Amino acid sequence: MNAISRLSTAVSLAALMPLTALAGEVEVLHWWTSGGEKRAADTLQKLVEDQGHSWKDFAVAGGGGEAAMTVLKTRAVSGNPPAAAQIKGPDIQEWGELGLLADLNQVAEQNGWNELLPPQVIEVMQFGGDYVAVPVNVHRVNWLWINPEVFAKAGATPPTTLDEFFAAAEKLKAAGFMPLAHGGQPWQDSTVFEDLALAVLGPDDFHKAFVELDESVLTSAKMVEVFAALQKLRGYVDANAAGRDWNSATAMVMNGKAGMQIMGDWAKSEWSAAGKVAGSDYECLPFPGTQGSFAYNIDSLAMFKLSDADNRKAQEDLARTVLEPEFQQFFNQNKGSIPVRMDQDMSSFDACAQKSMVDFKAAAASGGLQPSLAHGMAASSYVQGAVFDVVTNFFNDPKADPQKAAQQLAAAIQAVQ
Ligand code: BGC
Repeated sequence: MNAISRLSTAVSLAALMPLTALAGEVEVLHWWTSGGEKRAADTLQKLVEDQGHSWKDFAVAGGGGEAAMTVLKTRAVSGNPPAAAQIKGPDIQEWGELGLLADLNQVAEQNGWNELLPPQVIEVMQFGGDYVAVPVNVHRVNWLWINPEVFAKAGATPPTTLDEFFAAAEKLKAAGFMPLAHGGQPWQDSTVFEDLALAVLGPDDFHKAFVELDESVLTSAKMVEVFAALQKLRGYVDANAAGRDWNSATAMVMNGKAGMQIMGDWAKSEWSAAGKVAGSDYECLPFPGTQGSFAYNIDSLAMFKLSDADNRKAQEDLARTVLEPEFQQFFNQNKGSIPVRMDQDMSSFDACAQKSMVDFKAAAASGGLQPSLAHGMAASSYVQGAVFDVVTNFFNDPKADPQKAAQQLAAAIQAVQ
């Protein structure tokens, strides 16, 4: 029985049981709207409904979540935020400062969150020492997805270094394939940029650049090299990339039109939803040159203060459910991520997830674990926006000067601090 059918059995059994007295409603804002993402989000909805509560889906389409955050701000300003919203990284602190987030300390204490979660994760989920958010998963951003059949047809070798990456791209191109499936949207451009930065700078300088915002690294010769690599890579992207959604790019690799995609492991949700098997139908490789490093992107649900007691109960049940092993398994197997509980049994996960968990733990011990800038984990949304602007302008101008871009990067970051 697979995770989904086990889940539907659990749900149909639940339908026979009396509903709890304290049934409430949870409205959940997220941007999990691709086919694969939706399957993952549905697992949470079912587990919440299973407890007698009703789920109000507040899904806002748009990869990377920019559109969802805009809508959330509008709702919050009008005094009507949802019960829970997918808010990540340092942004949680910004929402906490507004005084809008609910305290989850009791659920955390009763369910031993302090023992379950890595200390770096706990820090992000708390505001002023109180839990205000619950982590859902751990995504890895530095992945390269390849179609092995296309590689074989083109005589290309799965790359482990940037030089090998460009050599493979050249072979794919010569054989008539689209080398790299990419969607020209700012967050996707910066996802690629950040993977190149991790490869060229290494984890220490990556941290200095995007967490410490160190000007000397931002303007360094290595950063110029990152932009130069981005420019070279741009040459392997097709002319119709502008505005393409990330999951359409994944589909191009899946249907054999393209050879590779650089994307976080939510891309795997599309492969899984299509019934494809990791290790045979597709391969996940650490982005060339970043073996040993792990750019993490932790999805989390921050909870807003509610006045209705039943809805508050539903909100607490949602928070508790998210860290239970059952949800961690169902959700992450569909979402492409790994559980955020480090004690989770990984035996039923696929090869990519198992590798991701091993790499996460090794990177955490070696200093290779770094927060993703493109996915809102490294710096404020203002810094992230400044980087997006510089990177996307650079990406869209084939004649842009890498040297100038590094200067612009530092200046743009400086201006929003
Ligand atoms: C989120 C993922 C989501 C992806 C594509 C990322 O920023 O963390 O949960 O699947 O964007 O929308």
